[in-house]
Amino acid sequence: MSKDKILLTGVGSYLPKNKTSNHDLAKYIDTSDEWITKRTGIKFRHFVANNEYTSDLGTNAAKLAILNAGLKPIDIDIIIVATTTPDNTFPSTASKIQKNLGCSAISFDVQAVCAGFIYGMTVGISMLKDGHGKKCLVIGADSMSKILDWNDRSTAVLFGDGAGAIILEKEKVKTKFCENDDWGILASKIYTNGNFYDILNTDGGVSKSKSIGFLRMNGKEVFRHAVEKLSSSLLICLEECNKDISQVDWLIPHQANQRILDAVSNKVKLNPNKVISTIADHGNTSAASIPLALDVATKRGKVKNGNVLALQAIGGGLSWGSLILKVGKPI
Ligand code: ACO
Repeated sequence: MSKDKILLTGVGSYLPKNKTSNHDLAKYIDTSDEWITKRTGIKFRHFVANNEYTSDLGTNAAKLAILNAGLKPIDIDIIIVATTTPDNTFPSTASKIQKNLGCSAISFDVQAVCAGFIYGMTVGISMLKDGHGKKCLVIGADSMSKILDWNDRSTAVLFGDGAGAIILEKEKVKTKFCENDDWGILASKIYTNGNFYDILNTDGGVSKSKSIGFLRMNGKEVFRHAVEKLSSSLLICLEECNKDISQVDWLIPHQANQRILDAVSNKVKLNPNKVISTIADHGNTSAASIPLALDVATKRGKVKNGNVLALQAIGGGLSWGSLILKVGKPI
């Protein structure tokens, strides 16, 4: 017997060249390596060049993910780009990336800020299941430096730029190889609560002020919601696929702040050694942070065929969610 499964078959990432340390930042804003490291775990972040756009970051990551999956751009049926910092207000950054790749995939953007990659994956999974194609490229790409207010040291030190991408493929899998038919994407849950619109947003926007505005955040409130909502959505997802926390090989969370990662692993009783953290090297790259961390973990040989991964993120909206998958193909 065989069954349609949505499998993760490729991953890639890209960081702009300009790597900036906390010490570099402290030369032009009133901060210190000690403050940033203690509060967040961040040591470095990468920034785009003036002539480098979100679509460039996304295109570079996409090419590597397509190669990693053993595919060509023309094989891709759907491109979903999670971004808060599109090249233009319209058209979508996804349509620019489609042009750069030279394919004819259905292409559109998803806006759920730092949760965008989980949203994008969830939409991609549904589209594959609904027959819109067989191969979906999901990209998280952001140039957060373009919306930072350098006079607001409490937010400016947190963010960086980058992109990551994955390939999802719908494949027929012989169920006799799969223990309990348990392979590929196992569960995903996404949530929004607009009552918290004001605790993490920009103070501008096209219809409001015709300017893009700067990122504003109530850090303490976001911290509180992040720990609670990331923990609860992860446990709900695990329950949905009949797993418990001890069966998770790697948690790959949105990289907002090391203290949030530590608090979540403590709350859900997951060994902290199973949490992938790239926060020190990347800072918070918004929608890019999960696929960037996944790519780093894969390249370091941590993620192996058959591993159970838990991905999770929270961002403005508030928007949040978790996703469980079993990596690779049954062998
Ligand atoms: N360098 C030095 N001092 C600073 C800096 C800085 N970069 N920023 C703020 N301070 C000072 C403040 O002025 C304040 O000084 P005061 O006591 O003299 O008034 C002091 O540090 C404490 O400021 P708080 O804002 O209370 O600092 P807090 O301990 O809450 O830490 C932080 C701020 C790191 C943002 C924290 O609230 C946090 O981790 N929030 C989680 C939110 C988060 O990580 N968001 C990421 C984006 S959202 C997302 O991705 C989900």
